[in-house]
Order: sequence, then structure tokens, then C-alpha cells
Amino acid sequence: MSNPIVIGVDVGTSGAKAIAMDAAGTLLASALREYPLHSPKPNWAEQDPADWRKATIEALSELAAKVDSQNVVAIGLTGQMHGSVFLDAENNVLRPALLWCDQRTAAQCAAITEKAGGEAALVEMVANPALTGFTAPKILWLRDNEPALFEKTRKVLLPKDYIRWALTGEYATDVADASGTLLFDVKNRCWHTGLMSLLDIDSALMPKAYEGPEITGKLLPAIAAKTGLPAGIPVAAGGGDQAAGGVGCGIVRPGVVSSSLGTSGVVFAFSEDVSADPQGRVHTFCHAVPGAWHVMGVMLSAGGALQWFRNTLCREERDMASKTGRDAYEYITEMAGAVPAGAEGLLFLPYLTGERTPHKDPCAKGAFIGLSLRHDKAYMARAVLEGVAFGMRDSLDIMREMGVPLSVSRASGGGARSALWRQIMADSGRIPIARINVDEGPAYGAAILAGVGAGCYASVGEACDAIIRETDRVEPDEAAADVYDTWLEEYRAAYTALRPNFQRIAALLE
Ligand code: XUL
Repeated sequence: MSNPIVIGVDVGTSGAKAIAMDAAGTLLASALREYPLHSPKPNWAEQDPADWRKATIEALSELAAKVDSQNVVAIGLTGQMHGSVFLDAENNVLRPALLWCDQRTAAQCAAITEKAGGEAALVEMVANPALTGFTAPKILWLRDNEPALFEKTRKVLLPKDYIRWALTGEYATDVADASGTLLFDVKNRCWHTGLMSLLDIDSALMPKAYEGPEITGKLLPAIAAKTGLPAGIPVAAGGGDQAAGGVGCGIVRPGVVSSSLGTSGVVFAFSEDVSADPQGRVHTFCHAVPGAWHVMGVMLSAGGALQWFRNTLCREERDMASKTGRDAYEYITEMAGAVPAGAEGLLFLPYLTGERTPHKDPCAKGAFIGLSLRHDKAYMARAVLEGVAFGMRDSLDIMREMGVPLSVSRASGGGARSALWRQIMADSGRIPIARINVDEGPAYGAAILAGVGAGCYASVGEACDAIIRETDRVEPDEAAADVYDTWLEEYRAAYTALRPNFQRIAALLE
């Protein structure tokens, strides 16, 4: 075909996004459909898989109408990781899916760690510790709390893999998303049947796992008819949103890492071999690049912390923004830019929804520390930007300890639009921060993986080399970096000191 088009679909937390691009990587069209997140109890986060399905079909239909749909040669899938869709023998969804940000499974995490013979033994088996967001504890939660539904469960699918089943009729996943279940042998890139039998989980519950560009099935005629896409086009495995996002930023070689500032904050590094932090502070997962791995540090509130600050304390800036048509974040970062590096000793702990990296602590809380009469809202804004950047530095330092090469970080996500935040990240992280020519996130990576699967490119690396390039770069400023090093120590000490308070506060709130 002369103008092949590939599609990437991202089944995200706030909506389903579909993009179409040509073989040169040019974005041709995109479509987004949003859906709600439900929290029926404190710490619970659920979504209805039927909402994902409806949103995906609608987004694909809109996309098909915007491009020369007969030229579409493949679809790649990505999505929010770790969520659990429980299906019965007739493929009915048994209950709403538990999401990556659901925190109800602390007891099941403890049980998994114990059955595995302790955290170090678990990390040895599956390269990661038991975290409340992961999939295995969700399966045990169902068995412990809703046994009648567990009895009926025949398949457990990750969010995008439920959509794969809806599009192709196949049960399949990819090795990157499978890594986040805690049931996957990350080193050998296959299900860990040994751990599953220790946990008494039937391995037939899990779908077959493929490498990112591999073809897992074909678009069903009924879906083709609904969407206007050609029937029978191949659907590639794709990857969990972090791995696909890594591909979409060109993180396919040692040394180049990415820092994404969405609601959460992620430092993502490519790795040629499987290396895990023995303390499990960063995640080690298979990459969507065949035969490679990735290491990542995940902060639960990064852009989310600034959004909280804007929503709760920046009424004036929001009013000004609605009058002038500017973005409230521009006013907030402008005032933060007038405050010196280090915010004269005002520190912010960004743990508004607990924290994964480096603390693995669902009870951690946010805090401003060091307030004085000199500190006004501008200082607080600066402290929020710096607190998030210190959290990203924590991830970088763990990777440095592990010997992961870090030469430049490519910034992505909404927060990366701020020049001030990029400079703060460069200075406090002691790493150059670059921007690239595309910022379409995981859907773009899924489209690249589909393009490789369909034979448009020889490999993921070749595809990324051809279509992704840096557009600008900021270097760390030595003087500012020295100031940040001082306050970083206090930032770290503040969490250690406050941890017992956070634990007690969490217990009192129960
Ligand atoms: C990764 C993670 C999030 C979710 C939602 O470990 O929890 O990236 O995939 O986007």
C-alpha cells in the first residue's frame, strides 16, 4: 500500500484516545471519548469496562471518518495498567474493574509477600514487590471478599486487553502490561506459574502474553462494520501505558530516559538486561521493545499536586485565566518564577495520594514544611514545583545506584509545557531535560508498535529513530543544583520524620 496508516488506541483512566498516523509518524487525526471513575468507598477506584468499550468504538468510528480508512493496516493497543476485568465463562464482566489507583488490597499484599517467603524472595521471582495497585492482590481480594464472583471467574484481563477481546475475540496481553500483574516472570518473559501455584491462582485465568509488536488477532467483521475500519486488519499486542509511552518518546536505547508529568510523575529508563532494585522502590518491567526491559519510578501525585494547588488555593489565578483566555498554570508558574531556588526553606511533600517511589507507602500524606511570615502563595507554588522535582530526583538517584545509564531525560505530559518546571527538574535532578517533536503519549507508542507489527518498520528502534527527534534541551545550572542538593536532604529527612505521624493519621481516619 502506498500510504499505510496505523492506529494507536489508549484505554486511559479518564478516557479512550485513538490516534492515526502515517508511516512517517505524522499525526493524521485523533479522537477522544471520556468516561467516569467511581469511588464507591474510600480508597476504592473502579470503572465499568462497558464504558471503555463504548468509548473505544466511538473514538475509532470518529477516527475512521477522519482518515482514508481503507488505508489502515494495523491497530496497536495501550492503556492504564494493573486493572482487573473479571470475566465468566460467557465473557460477561462480573463486577466493575478495580483500577491501578485502587488502594483496598493492603491485606492481600501482605499475604502475597508472606506466601512468597518475604519481599526479597518476591522481588527475586517477579522483579517487583507487592503494591496495592498491582493485579495479583486484586484477584486475591475478589477471592477473599466476593467468593461467589471469584468462583465464576474464568479470565482476568487488563483494561486494554478487555478491549482487545472486544475487538478481536482473542484473550491476549503484552509482556509489559503482564509485568504489572505481579504474576509474571519478568526475567524470562512468561507467566510465573510457580508463584501462581503458591498463591493458589489458576494459570488458565491469565491470557497468552506476546511481545509488543506481535499480532494478537484480527479486527472482527462486526466491529469493522460498526467503526468503518477494514475487517481483518491485525491488532498488535502493544504495551501497558508506560512502556508504550516510552516507545512514543523514543526511550528505546540505553541512556535516554523520560520524565513524564501527568497526574502521576514517571521517570522511565530503558534497560538491556533485567535489573531490579532489591528494595523494590522502582518497578522493573518488560519493555514493549522485544527483548528489552524498563525500570521506572512512579510518583502518584506530580502534575496532580499542582492541579490540587490550583484548585484549592488559586481562585484568583483561575478567575484571571477565564477573563484573559490564558491558562491558570501560566499565572501560577509566573509567580513561582519570581521566587529564588529553594523557596527560602519552604518544602512541599507531594504525597497527596500516598506514594510508590521511593516510599511504597499508601499512608504518606502531603505537607508544607518550613512556613514563615515571608512565605506567600508564590513561595508555596515554587515549593510545589520543587517538591515534585525532588520526588523525580529520588527515582533518578535509585537508578543511578542501580547503574542505569542516565544521559538526558525527555520531558512529556502537561507539566512539561512549563519552561520553569523543566529547568527546576534539570537543576534539581542534575540531568539535561529535552523536549521532542511529538507529545501524543502512549497512543503514539501503540501506533508505532502496530506499524512494526504490520511491517512498516524493521524494528521499534528503527521506527523511533526515523520519526522522533529532540527539539530543545536545558542543561542543569550548577549553582541552582547546589542549592537544591541542600534542600533535597531536608526534603528526604522530613518524610522520615513525619512517617509515624502519617501512619497514625491514616489509622485515625480508618
Ligand atoms: C503504572 C501505573 C500508571 C497506570 C495508569 O505502573 O500505575 O501508569 O498505568 O496510567
